Amino acid sequence: MKEKPSRSLQAFSGEIVRWQASHGRNSLPWQNTRDPYRVWLSEIMLQQTQVATVLDYYARFLQRFPTVKELAAASEDEVLGLWSGLGYYSRARNLHKCAQDVMALHGGRFPGTAEQLQTLPGIGRSTAAAIASFCFGERVAILDGNVKRVLTRVLGFSADLAQSANERALWAQAVALLPDQDLPDTMPRYTQGLMDLGATICAGRQPQCLLCPVQKLCRGFAEGNPCTYPVKTRKLKRTAQALSLLWARKPDGSVWLEKRSSKGIWGGLYCLPVFESDDALTADLPPSLRERLDPLPAFVHVLTHKDLHLSPWIAGFRAEQSMPKAVVSPERPGAWFGPAEWSALGLPAPIRKLLEQDA
Ligand code: ADE
Repeated sequence: MKEKPSRSLQAFSGEIVRWQASHGRNSLPWQNTRDPYRVWLSEIMLQQTQVATVLDYYARFLQRFPTVKELAAASEDEVLGLWSGLGYYSRARNLHKCAQDVMALHGGRFPGTAEQLQTLPGIGRSTAAAIASFCFGERVAILDGNVKRVLTRVLGFSADLAQSANERALWAQAVALLPDQDLPDTMPRYTQGLMDLGATICAGRQPQCLLCPVQKLCRGFAEGNPCTYPVKTRKLKRTAQALSLLWARKPDGSVWLEKRSSKGIWGGLYCLPVFESDDALTADLPPSLRERLDPLPAFVHVLTHKDLHLSPWIAGFRAEQSMPKAVVSPERPGAWFGPAEWSALGLPAPIRKLLEQDA
């Protein structure tokens, strides 16, 4: 049996759908299509990344990989190279794996329900629901960070979302609020409308309640304190990590880059060789090289949950000189790459910045 929203919220989905048609975003490149490949690609890129940043990447990916078949057949290096700069590289590795699973397990067609989509790498409950509601008009709820903010405010949902039972309760409420008529038309609009409202009007710090289509239904507004929602006590603790980088450079400007293992920080990307400390870096190098090491000023690169304290060391190599055995191994495969090759490689953002400011 479908759970019904409380009486006062029965108008909610209709208001969102109407507002989306007149005030929402309706000409983004991944809209006006029901092709699951295009919608899936956009949804993965839009996780943790703003629309304005995604636009160029989306166009480049579609040009190089017009269908899931081309994406599945590409090398992981090429996919990571095209992703370079978008961050959160596990998304790119899962994107590639997902394309390969769609080819191998589903005959090259994305499955047609949210439940099946969720079995694929990188597709969680909310992303599966976004794809299925946009492409198939399925009656399924999304609940990403923006939508949690909208719904907790409208519902006056004050339970702590750090507790999974409360998160489950919010999912149930999200399902109860879904439209239940004309689903092929209303579901895509409703899903997009919630995203649009969360991204524009129902902002984290300064919501524009006077422009909100559901202001009259909103408990947070009625209470005068929408910004107290959502409630989440357990904040992820920020950590710090120090890494030392060996910047080995030849006279022609080429640098030694190693491909990192798929686990851990910057998995699968090309990077200057990384050491746990300055001592570890110097200890690993033969004395002849150690003497020619020059420290550069250390700098901090801020990730979502971690501050990276990066300490680069320049080492000038001669044209014919090879990398010492202590740095290269089967687990640390690497090669010399000239500046013209860097743009096609998947490089972590701070490493790209470091190399390019010097090139
Ligand atoms: N964020 C996540 N999905 C989105 C979409 N389809 N349009 C705009 N922003 C989004």
